[in-house]
Amino acid sequence: MNTIWSDFIQGAKTLYYSRKLRFDDKFAGQYKELFDLDENKALKILEVGCGSGALAGALLRWYPNAEITAIDRDGEFIRFAKEHEKGVTFIEGDATLLPFADESFDVVISNTVCEHIEPSAFYSEQFRVLKPKGVCLVLSSRRGIRVAPDCYKLNDYEKEFWQKTKKFDDALNKYSVGKYSMSEAELPVTMMQYGFRSIRTGYVIVNLTPDNPDNTAEFAHAIINADRYSDVDSIESVKRSKPEYFSSNEITLMKRIVNAKYDERIKRYDCGEKQWDTAVSVIMVLRGVK
Ligand SMILES: C[S@@+](CC[C@H](N)C(=O)[O-])C[C@H]1O[C@@H](n2cnc3c(N)ncnc32)[C@H](O)[C@@H]1O
Repeated sequence: MNTIWSDFIQGAKTLYYSRKLRFDDKFAGQYKELFDLDENKALKILEVGCGSGALAGALLRWYPNAEITAIDRDGEFIRFAKEHEKGVTFIEGDATLLPFADESFDVVISNTVCEHIEPSAFYSEQFRVLKPKGVCLVLSSRRGIRVAPDCYKLNDYEKEFWQKTKKFDDALNKYSVGKYSMSEAELPVTMMQYGFRSIRTGYVIVNLTPDNPDNTAEFAHAIINADRYSDVDSIESVKRSKPEYFSSNEITLMKRIVNAKYDERIKRYDCGEKQWDTAVSVIMVLRGVK
């Protein structure tokens, strides 16, 4: 089983809980307007590079008449997705060699995948499996705003730990992560090169600010905990990738420090001590028609 991404780049929980927020129903209106799909039709939708399945689950909620299939080559993501998102068909497989017949889907969609796969393989396979007039949606995360609360400040031990990981962190280069990143202007040109037409771009703003009064306490906690999972996953991934350089004690202590910070943030939220920390993402939606 291929588990390179989930072992060394982003863990299943990191991806799942951050994407559950990014594709929360409160942002559905913005996405659906840009997707511009006929929701009354029994659409056959394929998600390529689905990771741990949160977008596929959102698509099922937003397009209840649709049949959703989602594929990723990381077996751990597919196992996790099957457990957490019912009603979607999850398949372990390669986006550059899709195991589907020509012209079998109405819509193909991906989120933060185009930057990791060579463009001719990425687009030509999706073009092949799309029906004529089918829609290709390519989502990617652009710049954003990030302001942390003061309780997340790194202490000296943490600074040293992360400094030490940098010396050995070759995963991003080794696995071609972000190798094919493109600007907002290059992306539509590339999509056109592979045969798509009627190309449009749009942007969704995902504002994750725990203290905003329109968030429920559950949603605010989820924002805080998504960062917790990401930090804890990163620490565990360090141990997996370079076990010879990090002792179990170092890893345990780091996890304890990190968890204490997120516990403190939640305590402040629950006491009504506003911190106004925020994470705003701009998600580009590129839409083309076969
Ligand atoms: C940044 S993650 C995004 C995952 C998911 N779309 C999300 O937003 O949570 C990139 C994903 O692309 C997958 N991936 C990369 N190359 C792939 C390929 N050739 N075939 C299938 N999946 C691939 C990785 O396994 C990983 O799950």
